[in-house]
Amino acid sequence: MKTRITELLGIRYPIIQGGMQWVGRAELASAVSDAGGLGVLTALTQPTPQALGEEIKRCRAMTDRPFGVNITILPTASPPPYEAYLDAVIDAGVGILETAGHNPRALIQKAKLHGIKVVHKCTSVRHALSAERAGVDAISIDGFECAGHPGEDDVGGLVLFAAAADQVKVPLIASGGIADGRGLAAALALGAEGVNMGTRFCATQEAPIHPNIKNALLAASERDTNLIFRTLHNTGRVLKNAVSDEVIATERRPGGCEFKDIHGLVAGARGRAALESGDVDGGLVWASQVTGLIHDIPACAELLERMVAQAREIFDARQAIFQDRDRQ
Ligand SMILES: Cc1cc2nc3c(=O)[nH]c(=O)nc-3n(C[C@H](O)[C@H](O)[C@H](O)COP(=O)(O)O)c2cc1C
Repeated sequence: MKTRITELLGIRYPIIQGGMQWVGRAELASAVSDAGGLGVLTALTQPTPQALGEEIKRCRAMTDRPFGVNITILPTASPPPYEAYLDAVIDAGVGILETAGHNPRALIQKAKLHGIKVVHKCTSVRHALSAERAGVDAISIDGFECAGHPGEDDVGGLVLFAAAADQVKVPLIASGGIADGRGLAAALALGAEGVNMGTRFCATQEAPIHPNIKNALLAASERDTNLIFRTLHNTGRVLKNAVSDEVIATERRPGGCEFKDIHGLVAGARGRAALESGDVDGGLVWASQVTGLIHDIPACAELLERMVAQAREIFDARQAIFQDRDRQ
């Protein structure tokens, strides 16, 4: 396949694995890159910038294809040393950075000075345009269906991708709600030049999480996610489970809820333990509405080949519709 995204990132298929806390490790990133997409390591999954440097080395030993690193800027009182994480990316010579979260301008500018290609992931057209002005090379835009933080505008991908394609000039990557070749074809039809996936990559052979979690994604339907942190204006989409149900119940309490009331439930360490131990109700499990589209746990290479073949078939079949009409 050839789009501005495959050309920009030096990949065979315009399919990207988005940054995923506790999941975006070398096992998954190298498998996605080897399969022809772009694998992405998640910087903050590593405890220190030095550890990120080691993880980059580990990933390089597992694939000779390009991969990227995600740095997510979180709204937190005690921020991690973002710039030192970026320095680890620069020192290791990684050529692709995915930024996400609040006000990444300083990171974007420093990365660009070092010749790194920057993809910024956001959830609205206005933030996409602002990142474009800051000099990013591509925009990844997350529709409301997505896992993680969909923003507060609640605009689904069908409208958001087309609205972004109308205004953004750099290549656009559609993210959120995509799990198969139909999603890839739809994203291309709406004006995106690639897709970004999170949840679908969690349900692959190479995802470094417990099989119980993969099976829970397989069993879940498109109705089995919860929107948490709505009352705190920092909405997150996660798998429906005992913990996310309790978070919502706490948020709905008369008198409302402050972050400290749910902190113990949503702590990152607890989510990490759930992913590693396979205790599906042990913590937050970030997941999107594509749980309704996951019916198996393939290897990344099989998933990507299948997606591309399905998208190609769809475009071929649609062409026939118009040819038939022209003949009438
Ligand atoms: C387990 C998990 C962890 C995630 N962690 C992050 C993260 O740390 N930073 C980030 O920018 N996005 C994160 N995301 C969001 C994904 O990168 C991607 O934008 C999203 O999953 C796309 O929606 P989809 O799941 O429908 O494909 C996470 C998603 C999942 C499923």
